[in-house]
Formats: sequence, C-alpha cells, structure tokens
Amino acid sequence: EGPFQGQKLDCLFSEQEIQARVKELADQISHDLENAKKPPILVGVLNGSLFFMADLMRAMSIETEMDFIKISSYHHTSSTGTVRLVKDISAQITDRDVLIVEDIVDTGLSINFLRNRMLSNAPHSLRVVTFLYKKEVSQLKKEPEYIGFVIPNRFVVGYGLDLDQKYRTLRDIYAFAPDNKQE
Ligand code: PRP
Ligand code: MN
Ligand code: MG
Repeated sequence: EGPFQGQKLDCLFSEQEIQARVKELADQISHDLENAKKPPILVGVLNGSLFFMADLMRAMSIETEMDFIKISSYHHTSSTGTVRLVKDISAQITDRDVLIVEDIVDTGLSINFLRNRMLSNAPHSLRVVTFLYKKEVSQLKKEPEYIGFVIPNRFVVGYGLDLDQKYRTLRDIYAFAPDNKQE
C-alpha cells in the first residue's frame, strides 16, 4: 500500500534522478566558487532543506562551512505575506561567500526575505540554490542562481518536503494528484 494510505500520488523524481541532479549542481557550484578566499558558507533553510543540504555539501569538491536559519511564513493565510525569523544563523557572513540552500521555492516569499536579510550584512557574494522551483507561481524579485528542477504548481512531498511534518524522509519526491491537493 505504501506510505500514503491509498491516496493517489505520482513519483516526480526518483532517488536516482535526485542524486544525479544534486551531483550536477554540486559540480557547477564548486566550479563557480573554487576561487573563494575562505570556504563558502552554506545556509540551509530549516527544516525542508536538511537532506538536500547534506547531499549537496558532501557532493561538492571544495571545502564549505554550514549554518542554518529557520523562518516561518504565513503566505497560506495572508495575501500580503509575512515572514517571521524563528532561528538566526550564528556565522558572521560579512565578506564571505554565502549560498542559501532551499528545498523548494513556492511563492518566493521566503527567498525574497532571506536575500534582503543576508544582503544587509554585506556578504562578499550571495547566491541561492533551490532544488525545486515553482516558476509559474513564484514572485521572486531575483531568480535563483541554481535550480534543480522547475516543477508545476502541485503539492510535493519527500526529500525534506512535508505535509504536516510527515513524509520528509522519503527518498523520492512525490506530487499529490491535482484533484487531491492537500493544501
Ligand atoms: C517551505 C519550503 C520553503 C518555503 C517555500 O517551508 O521548505 O522553505 O516553504 O515557500 P515560499 O517560496 O512560498 O516562501 P515551510 O515553511 O513549509 O517550513 P519547513 O521547511 O519546515 O517545511
Ligand atoms: Mn522550508
Ligand atoms: Mg513545510
């Protein structure tokens, strides 16, 4: 029966496809940042980016450091969209090369907020990598520098992505059927 108790889900990306794409991203990012004076700081956005961050860092060929930030947004209940900082980074990012690591960009609210917040501390460079990107619906002020896959506007779970905190540990990424959207 599987983990979804009879609900209809499509596998969008298998573990193998995910890992192949992670490796490509890791090679590209490693190449782009290979001349950094100090190791780039990867800032994972909790909780969803946990597994992508771990896989990406370990697939990179250059030395990196890690930090984490946690925010909470109310874009599902508020049309204006409010983002609240729940846990800040502890690293000093001034003059450092910083890479924000996200599992998914949906409305774009989180990344718009995080870019502004990080830029106020004058990093040497600031980039964003997102594994999934709902390009059609997002209202990003600036496109992510690195994108795993562009996906349609469907609710997805697995590889860190949750539905009410469930399904994060699934190694593949699944989408709920469009007529069965769990939002
Ligand atoms: C999800 C996802 C991104 C964010 C994207 O996180 O992991 O961080 O929403 O949405 P946006 O582009 O509309 O801002 P969520 O707030 O569900 O927290 P979680 O990572 O702990 O699941
Ligand atoms: Mn998240
Ligand atoms: Mg979530």
